[in-house]
Amino acid sequence: MKKTLLTLTTAVALGLFSMYSYAADPIVIKFSHVVAPDTPKGKAAEKFKTLAEEKTKGAVKVEVYANSTLYKDKEEMEALQMGAVQMLAPSLAKFGPLGVKDFEVFDLPYIFKNYEDLHKVTKGEVGASLLAKLEPKGVKGLAFWDNGFKVMSANKPLKTPDDFKGLKMRIQSSKVIEAQMRALGANPQVMPFSETYQALQTGVVDGTENPPSNLYTQKMHEVQKHASATNHGYLGYAVITNKDFWDKLPEDVRKSLDEAMQESTDYANEIAKADNDQALEAVKASGKTEVYVPSEDEIKALQAALMPVHTEMAERIGKETIDAVYKATGFEAGK
Ligand code: LMR
Repeated sequence: MKKTLLTLTTAVALGLFSMYSYAADPIVIKFSHVVAPDTPKGKAAEKFKTLAEEKTKGAVKVEVYANSTLYKDKEEMEALQMGAVQMLAPSLAKFGPLGVKDFEVFDLPYIFKNYEDLHKVTKGEVGASLLAKLEPKGVKGLAFWDNGFKVMSANKPLKTPDDFKGLKMRIQSSKVIEAQMRALGANPQVMPFSETYQALQTGVVDGTENPPSNLYTQKMHEVQKHASATNHGYLGYAVITNKDFWDKLPEDVRKSLDEAMQESTDYANEIAKADNDQALEAVKASGKTEVYVPSEDEIKALQAALMPVHTEMAERIGKETIDAVYKATGFEAGK
């Protein structure tokens, strides 16, 4: 008996049972997010869970909490920094309060024409250098996950810049989006995502902006009579983890999680466009929201009204960051 105990202790000390001990007591990753499971982010989080658990053979257990069931927007950032959750994928518009304002470059109106333009940034050097800016905050950026281009919605048709005048519009916590709404004469109201449906339903706000997948899965279309496919801005995510947690993971585990993250990123970016296209069709088919597709001239008028936001926000975002994005995409104002 004594001998067996001794042998076991020696084996554990030699690290022979490390995988066994993981299995008995897995490393738990709480992954909190604010959208529905049936969205690009929701599905990608589930994909990451499956891949991470498979690749680490159960040494890691990922618990996904959707729909703000664990934390709302602002709280989840604080929870990550404190180590109460290990993984999040906040929208790029929500990094200002963390002190990283450069991410608001993604919110500039009409800065990306399409996903191809966007990927020149998120899959390139500019994206990598943006993620690196999180590290001094104790946050490690692991990947960018796509969602989509935003529609505007309200209870009245939104065709020209004038149509937005005086509307109370719910926005995310981005100063760039705030400036964008003001440029249209609207009155921006920062509010957590989880409170938006009710604020629209009760008339606390008149309208909002979101990719169709969010509009549809939160049932916002049931309380918005009109939506306009303005595609005026992009909403996507940075997947982040607590840096200390990440750095302390056993190396083999971190390597498997890196692989799982790469594969779930590919998956997220493959499904995002189709998911949003389908959601917009579903909104139309519901008959509850009339979806308007602006003409080329109407888009030009919106662009003219919104372009000054790029200059106005240059100091906040950082001119270097804006220029790096322009260079990566070949952005030319008005083209
Ligand atoms: C929003 O608050 O509108 C979005 O950031 C929600 C999300 O995570 O897509």
